[in-house]
Amino acid sequence: MNSLLLRSALVVSSVLFCLPVLAQTRSSARVAHATSARPSLNDPNSERKIEAFLQKMTLEEKVGQLVQYSAGQPTGPGTGRTDYDNMIRKGEVGALFNITTAREVNAFQRIAVEQSRLHIPLLFGLDVIHGFRTEFPIPLGLASSWDPQLVERAARVAAHEASASGIRWTFSPVVDIARDARWGRMAESSGEDPYLGSVMARAYVHGYQGTRLDAADNIAACAKHFVGYGAAEGGRDYNSVELSERTLRQVYLPPFQAAVDAGAATLMSAFNSLNGIPASANPFTLKQILRKEWGFQGIVDSDWTSVAELVAHGIANDGAAAARKAFLGGVDMDMASSLYHDHLAQLVRSGEVPEARVDEAVRRVLRVKFALGLFEHPYTDESKEAAAMLQAESLALARTAAEQSFVLLKNAAWPDGAPILPLSTETRTIALIGPLADDQKNMLGSWAARGRAEDVVTLRAALTQKLGVDRLRYANGTEIIGGSDDQIAEAVRAAEQADVVILALGENAPGMTGEAASRAHLGLPGRQQQLLERIVATGKPVVLLLFSGRPLTLPWAFEHVPAVVATWFPGVQAGPALVRTLFGEVNPGGKLVVSWPRAVGQEPLYYNALNTGRPAGNIDLTRPPKNGDEKYVSRYIDMPNSPQFPFGYGLSYSNYQYGQPRLSKDQLSAGALNDELRAGGGASNAAVEASADVTNTGTRAGEETIQLYVRLQGTSVALPVRVLSGFQRVTLAPGETKKVTFTVAPDAFAFWNDQNKFAVEPARVTIWVSPDSSSGSGATLQITK
Ligand code: NOJ
Repeated sequence: MNSLLLRSALVVSSVLFCLPVLAQTRSSARVAHATSARPSLNDPNSERKIEAFLQKMTLEEKVGQLVQYSAGQPTGPGTGRTDYDNMIRKGEVGALFNITTAREVNAFQRIAVEQSRLHIPLLFGLDVIHGFRTEFPIPLGLASSWDPQLVERAARVAAHEASASGIRWTFSPVVDIARDARWGRMAESSGEDPYLGSVMARAYVHGYQGTRLDAADNIAACAKHFVGYGAAEGGRDYNSVELSERTLRQVYLPPFQAAVDAGAATLMSAFNSLNGIPASANPFTLKQILRKEWGFQGIVDSDWTSVAELVAHGIANDGAAAARKAFLGGVDMDMASSLYHDHLAQLVRSGEVPEARVDEAVRRVLRVKFALGLFEHPYTDESKEAAAMLQAESLALARTAAEQSFVLLKNAAWPDGAPILPLSTETRTIALIGPLADDQKNMLGSWAARGRAEDVVTLRAALTQKLGVDRLRYANGTEIIGGSDDQIAEAVRAAEQADVVILALGENAPGMTGEAASRAHLGLPGRQQQLLERIVATGKPVVLLLFSGRPLTLPWAFEHVPAVVATWFPGVQAGPALVRTLFGEVNPGGKLVVSWPRAVGQEPLYYNALNTGRPAGNIDLTRPPKNGDEKYVSRYIDMPNSPQFPFGYGLSYSNYQYGQPRLSKDQLSAGALNDELRAGGGASNAAVEASADVTNTGTRAGEETIQLYVRLQGTSVALPVRVLSGFQRVTLAPGETKKVTFTVAPDAFAFWNDQNKFAVEPARVTIWVSPDSSSGSGATLQITK
């Protein structure tokens, strides 16, 4: 996809729409396989060395390679262990994580390489989720750019910095599908869509790993959490998951498969149970699908103590049984439980675990270590560490990434007739209010690796630089949680003295988003709603900037505040990116990667849902049902079904007009498409071309993400009302029209059918080329036998 997007960018030429020739853009929709070179774990030379090691290793030393501990700031419940030096010396540890400096990494590595019997280097991992020291927007924000090349470049910066500190393994990307905003880890994901999630999964993996893992600044990726973790019941973290095999294959697995196809060297098994079987001891997903169907050769790492948690899940009554079930279920490495260390050798001796299986897992670990070049270069040059951090180009990219992540949700006209944004630089006085206006720490988001609050430029700092202190009235107004009447009164006074108010409200990144941060209420925490209403009551024009790791249910704000921007948590360059956007130096182009709910009761909420047998159709859902026609349909009696803002939605300072989509064919043959799928061309060959003219009718240049959606009807199983199958982010000058063409590949029409086969069936097809998942008119074609 990346290279194809790149290719499409190269053929773009722009002309004004009054000229007779239209500019054209082109991209392939539904490219399921990575197109760029990927690192290999199959080096014959290394294989010989690995076999030689296996000949020499004691059973305990083999097990040692499968044992991983946190030796720094913990990111899970305590393990009670600290005697790592000794264990490493004895060859009882294969990997460490949560260490963040080259000096500490080298100190542990020296013990492994110089003092252990076989001198096998350790593998050092960390949650480098959206940057190492240069923090980028949280992944939900990065995905909102709909720009995989940007994400790949951000991942490259993260790899460059992390590797300078000796970290050669990141527990990223999070490729979980997130359909429920209550789940705190939505912040770490690329949102609700399997296609977009797959594109982003590839981008992260390519960015981290490059084409060779042994390049000193490449790091191994870890696609997580396998699998279904984002479908936790009720959105409560770690909760059980029930998914049909079809939904699993159609929705939750594709981003993992994309990461595996892109060459991800490792994968993490999840905490949740999946249809009653814990994901960290699940042979169906870990062995049948991952190893047999996809041919994954890398390491499966457990999540933090997810091996030990098999006891709490109730499928093991003691640590030995948990170790046996996890290991035989397909988990190679035990993160933090210490149960492989405690029991695996004994399980082999008692015959409950074949030693050949241990050898196989050890091979996988050693392959990754060889591929990373750790045997030749186990140490990190400490003298180069500092210079690798926060480089000027990295910060510039962090600013661009933040700018591209913002989603303009509302921009209503103010009484003078013009939309409130962008602000004029002539604005005399601006009141900047809110607990997130001058908060460095929260801008980093959750999982900030080695990000430091002092690296962050806040909105207040950037705005002061832009306007000078005299034109700015600042008041925090309240705390995120807590606060006082006096603070609100002070903020109201500041607003009254200003021409425009910028309100910076939202969540607390580490406490309310990320792991173990599910919320049952999705409004503004603390007294922020009260502050918002008091400020709006001043009658001043208000721009609301929402900082959050998920959509927030704020119907009052969307009704009463003229301009609202979802800014997520933007990273170290939050302030400059926001100021450039607010004043129109940048035209926002981000689009939602999750459906934005009106109320928590709508969750889980996602656009690619089934139609049901009683769809609400054209009924006015804003009114309570009156008669049978209105009542006995799939609806809420007190709320529309529709989201506040749909998946794919986002405004700009320009306006875009979409022409009717046109298709190059009105018929396709299922037989021919299935032949292409079988022959391996199903992801790249053209089945049909879909095109539409898109015009920038505004007065500014802008970037618009044009989306391609497909619906199939008349099939053996019910399929979603729309499925994203392609997108292009296109630059349009004022007045310019571009003809945008999508080459739709056969696999856009394939799905997991009633025979549990991924195939194309005869169907009526509707294709939209539209600005989001709920608008536009479709064109139809027929798939015959
Ligand atoms: C638990 C989290 O679920 C996982 O994402 C993370 O990688 C590990 N802890 C290690 O910090």
